[in-house]
Amino acid sequence: MDLHKIPGAFATADERAAVESAVASGAASPPDGSRRHLLLPALLAVQRRVGWVSPGALNEICGRLDVAPADAYGVLSFYALLAHEPGPRGAIHVCDDIACRTRGGLELCAAMEKEIGPEGKPGGPGGGVAWHRSPCLVTCERAPAALVQVAGAEPREAGIAPARAKDLLTPARRPEPPRLSAAPQARDPRDPKLRLLRRAGLVDPGSFESYRAHGGATALVRAIELGSDAVLREMIASKLLGRGGAAFPTGRKWEAVAKAKAWPHYVVCNADESEPGTFKDRVLMEEDPFALIEAMTIAAIATGCRQGYIYIRGEYPEAARRLAAAIAESRRFGLLGPDVMGKGIDFNLEIRRGGGAYICGEETALFNSIEGFRGEPRNKPPFPVEAGLFGKPTLINNVETFVNVLDIVLEGGEAFARNGTPGSTGTKLFCLSGAVARPGLYEVVFGATLRSLLDLAGGVPGGGKPSAILLGGAAGSFVTADQLDMPLTFEGTRAAGTTLGSGVIMVFDAKADLEEIVLRIASFFRHESCGQCVPCRIGTERQEEILKRLGSRRPHGSTGDEIGLLADVARAMTDASICGLGQTAAAAVQSSIGRLGLFQAKGRS
Ligand SMILES: Cc1cc2nc3c(=O)[nH]c(=O)nc-3n(C[C@H](O)[C@H](O)[C@H](O)COP(=O)(O)O)c2cc1C
Ligand code: SF4
Ligand code: FES
Repeated sequence: MDLHKIPGAFATADERAAVESAVASGAASPPDGSRRHLLLPALLAVQRRVGWVSPGALNEICGRLDVAPADAYGVLSFYALLAHEPGPRGAIHVCDDIACRTRGGLELCAAMEKEIGPEGKPGGPGGGVAWHRSPCLVTCERAPAALVQVAGAEPREAGIAPARAKDLLTPARRPEPPRLSAAPQARDPRDPKLRLLRRAGLVDPGSFESYRAHGGATALVRAIELGSDAVLREMIASKLLGRGGAAFPTGRKWEAVAKAKAWPHYVVCNADESEPGTFKDRVLMEEDPFALIEAMTIAAIATGCRQGYIYIRGEYPEAARRLAAAIAESRRFGLLGPDVMGKGIDFNLEIRRGGGAYICGEETALFNSIEGFRGEPRNKPPFPVEAGLFGKPTLINNVETFVNVLDIVLEGGEAFARNGTPGSTGTKLFCLSGAVARPGLYEVVFGATLRSLLDLAGGVPGGGKPSAILLGGAAGSFVTADQLDMPLTFEGTRAAGTTLGSGVIMVFDAKADLEEIVLRIASFFRHESCGQCVPCRIGTERQEEILKRLGSRRPHGSTGDEIGLLADVARAMTDASICGLGQTAAAAVQSSIGRLGLFQAKGRS
C-alpha cells in the first residue's frame, strides 16, 4: 500500500534505534497479525529518546508498522505526553489540579515561570527544559506534585512530590521520599486489619521470594486446584463490585467472558488511574506488584485467556518499572509463561503505557489506545465481554478489583461477602487529600462513615469543619459537613445522591476558593473531552464559559439565568453523551450549586 509518506523527512540514527526497540520488543501479535498495536509504544520510545516525534521519525514508524503518516499523526497529536514540534529534551510537568491548588501548586507554577520562562517555551539551564501545567499527577497525598522527564539514550523520568522549584531544576539531587508515605496505616504502628494493603511496606516489591514468604502465590495454587468453574462460582458468591468507578458485578463479567464463543479471550488491567484525587492503584502496583500479576493469572485461568495487558498511566514511571521487573521475575519463577506453576497453563502479560489522556481510562478508549488508534471511546453495545480488545471477548478490571480476587479464592466467596454490607462487600481503599492532617491511602471495611474516614486521617488541621468534600473525584460530587454520617458504601452514597466513584475523598477547608476549584474541574473536562460527540465537546466548553462569567461577576443576564443555562447544559451532556466522561462532566458543578450554594452569594445580580 502507498502510505503517502511525508516528503523529504528521514529518521536520525537515534530515532531509528528508538523505533527498533519498540518494534522488536517481542510483543504478542493480535489475531490478524497486524503491527499497528505497536504505534503508541513506538511513538513513546521516540519521545523518550529525543524529546519529540519528528516527521522523519513518523515516516520511519509508519514504514515499519504499515500505517499512513496522516493517520499516525492523528494518534500522535492525541496524547499530552507526545510532542509533534521540536522542543528541549527536558520537560517538567507541574500539577495545577484541585488538591495541588490547595497546597501550593499555583505558587509552584509561578516559580517555574520565573525560573524557566513562559509555559511550553525552552528555558532553564542552557535552554534545555520546558515546563507545562498538568492535570492531577495522582500523588495528591504529597501535593504539590510534578513529573520530570529527560529524553536521551538513557531517559530519566521521576515523579516528585512534594515538589519545590529547586527540586525540579535539579531532580537528581533530591532524596527519594520515604517508602509508604502514601499509606499511613501501613506505617508504624501498623494496622493488623489491612487486607489489600497487607503486604505494603513488608514485602520487597522486587523479589518473588519475598512475595512468597508473605503468603504470595497461594491463591494461584488454590485456583488451579479449584478449576475455572469453581473460581467463577466463588467470584459470583463474593458479590465483588468493580472498583474502577462503575461498580459492575465482577463475577458476572468474568462468567460472560468465560462463556464467550469467539476466541481468543483477553484479560486487561485498567491501571490508567487518571481520576483527579485517586492514587490507590499506584500504591498497590508500587508496593505489591506480584499480587496484581497473581490475580490476573487467576482471572486468565477462569476465563480462558492466554494473553493479558496492564495499561498503566504514562505518568507512573515507578509503578511501571516495578511491574516490569515483577513480570520478568514471574516468568523466571513460572508464575507466567508457557507452563504456569508446571501445570501446562499458558499465560503471558505485557505492559502498555498510556500517553497522557484521561479518557483512555474509559475501557473502550483504552482498547483503542492499545490497538494504536486515538483513545476515543466506542459506542456500546457491543460490550467488552463480547467484543473488546482486537474485537475479541475481553475481561477488563481495575487494579484494586483484581487484588481482591486473592482473598476471594483463598477464603471463598461467601466468607468474603460477610465483610462489609450486603450491597458492598469486602474492604475499600479511600484516597484522602486536601485539608486533612494525614493525607494518604486508607483501607476500611465497607460501611465506615465519611466522618470515621476523616477521623482516621486526623481531621481538618486546626480542628475546624470542612467547608466541602469532593467524593469520587472530578467525576463525582461535592457533599457538605452535614453529611459526615453517610456510610461510604455504593448504596449509601447513592441514597445520598452522590457517588463513591474510585474512592476519592478530597477535603476543603474555609481557606479554599471553591469557585476556583469548580472552574478547574470544568476546565479539566473541557480539556479531556475527546471531542467525538457534540453534547460533550460543546457542553464542556459552554459549562466552562458560563462558570468564568459567573466567577468574574459578569453574567449574561442575571446570575439565575446563567445557573439555569448551566442546568440545561448539564442535562444535555448527561443524557446525550456517549461515554461516562460527558455523562459525569456536570456532576461536581451541579452539586457545587445545589449543595454548596456557590455562585449565588448575596450582592450578585
Ligand atoms: C472517563 C472515564 C475514565 C475512567 N478511568 C478509569 C480508570 O482510570 N481506571 C479504572 O479502573 N476505570 C476507569 N474507568 C472505568 C472503566 O471504563 C471500566 O468501567 C473499569 O475499568 C472496569 O473495571 P472494574 O469493573 O474493575 O471497575 C473510567 C471510565 C470513564 C468513563
Ligand atoms: S462523551 Fe466526551 S469523552 Fe466521551 S466520547 Fe463523547 S466527546 Fe468523547
Ligand atoms: S497530584 Fe495534584 S491534584 Fe492530584
